[in-house]
Amino acid sequence: MKPYLVAFLLVAVVACSVSKVAKDPVLKIPAGTYEDTLRYLYSRPAKYWPPPCIDSGTNFSELAVLPESPIEPYKDSLKHKIALGKMLFFDPRLSKSNMIACATCHKPELSWTDGRSRSIGHDSAINKRNSPSIQNVWFYHKLFWDGRSSSLEDQAFSPINSETEMSSDMPQATGKLRRIKGYQSYFEAAFGDHEITPEEITEALAVFQRTIISNKSSFDIFMQGNSKALTDAQLRGLQLFRTKARCINCHNGALFSDNSFHNTGLAGNDDGLFFKTKITNDKGKFKTPSLRDVMKTGPWLHDGSITQVADLIEHYNRITQRSRTDKLLVPLHLSSVEKADILAFLQSISSDPVPFNVPQLPE
Ligand code: HEC
Ligand code: HEC
Repeated sequence: MKPYLVAFLLVAVVACSVSKVAKDPVLKIPAGTYEDTLRYLYSRPAKYWPPPCIDSGTNFSELAVLPESPIEPYKDSLKHKIALGKMLFFDPRLSKSNMIACATCHKPELSWTDGRSRSIGHDSAINKRNSPSIQNVWFYHKLFWDGRSSSLEDQAFSPINSETEMSSDMPQATGKLRRIKGYQSYFEAAFGDHEITPEEITEALAVFQRTIISNKSSFDIFMQGNSKALTDAQLRGLQLFRTKARCINCHNGALFSDNSFHNTGLAGNDDGLFFKTKITNDKGKFKTPSLRDVMKTGPWLHDGSITQVADLIEHYNRITQRSRTDKLLVPLHLSSVEKADILAFLQSISSDPVPFNVPQLPE
């Protein structure tokens, strides 16, 4: 590869922050194609990667290998709560109709989504939003597309109470569980008492959900040292994702989310974060979703309005700034090969869900 091209890659384009990269003391670029060079550069530790194109003020951390959940599932204090939470998650008796469980809309085999644009809940009511995957959900500081909940413990009340989801309420659901004999011993093992309380129900659900993580992807295998795990197109896509296409401004870190909220110009008539904060500037902002397993979690966006990821890439490519569109989004001028490369990269961070055994429910 031509020396000036290598220099271009390492310093990248003007907008990229060279200050974020360390100087590699043993940089030895092999002769070869553009893809050979990329493969070499990305096989080194991430601190030596080509500089990312990120704007100042961005909540940035570099892409990284899939993290474990911080929860220690075999700890005695937790394993009974996890087992209980797993049953509760699959138990339709938490709903008014006895027909809808959390797992109705977060199905393990569909990467913990429901595969619909918008969820269908109690009495076939259509939700206003798309059911997100709950893989790696331990990571988010704020939950829901609009960030209206601050913890998994708090979050679980919401679907049980919601008219368009399970249409029950906590006292009713708790009362029903108290009448199911088989649950007694599980609550006792998890919480050391005979009582069954709403807080115990939501805590068990929360602890269980923190154990649900993605499966290892090709990208992770590459990161762990197998330089053949990414195809040429996927490598070009990785470079574009971090530089010219600017995705990494928001989709960054090990889970490809900055844990923050942005207006991507696709809000429709949903106020998003504004619902929670009542700050005018927050209108149309949504949580940056993790892109792990993204090719398995369609349809996409808060309202499931995108059925082809290629259409979304085209939206980013041709973005037109309106009053509240995030300033990080600018027209990208991507060629059709570049768009296909980004899609290939998204494939490389998507894998089938971890196989999961649905629990037996207590009688
Ligand atoms: C009728 C379908 C449906 C049911 C039943 C349901 N959910 Fe959801 N879930 C959704 C939808 C839709 C959203 C997104 C709502 C929003 O952002 O406003 C969501 C969001 C979530 C989130 C937030 C994820 C994130 O990334 O912010 C968690 C966690 C969650 N659900 C867990 C549960 C639990 C636990 C239960 C059972 C107590 C449950 N869900 C029942 C459809 C459902
Ligand atoms: C300004 C921050 C920002 C940038 C830059 C950005 N995204 Fe997003 N992305 C978001 C937000 C916020 C959402 C959720 C929007 C919604 O639901 O309406 C999203 C949603 C997505 C989704 C759908 C995920 C899902 O689960 O529904 C994909 C795929 C995606 N982005 C890919 C990309 C790619 C590829 C790029 C680069 C070309 C990119 N994004 C650049 C913030 C950003």
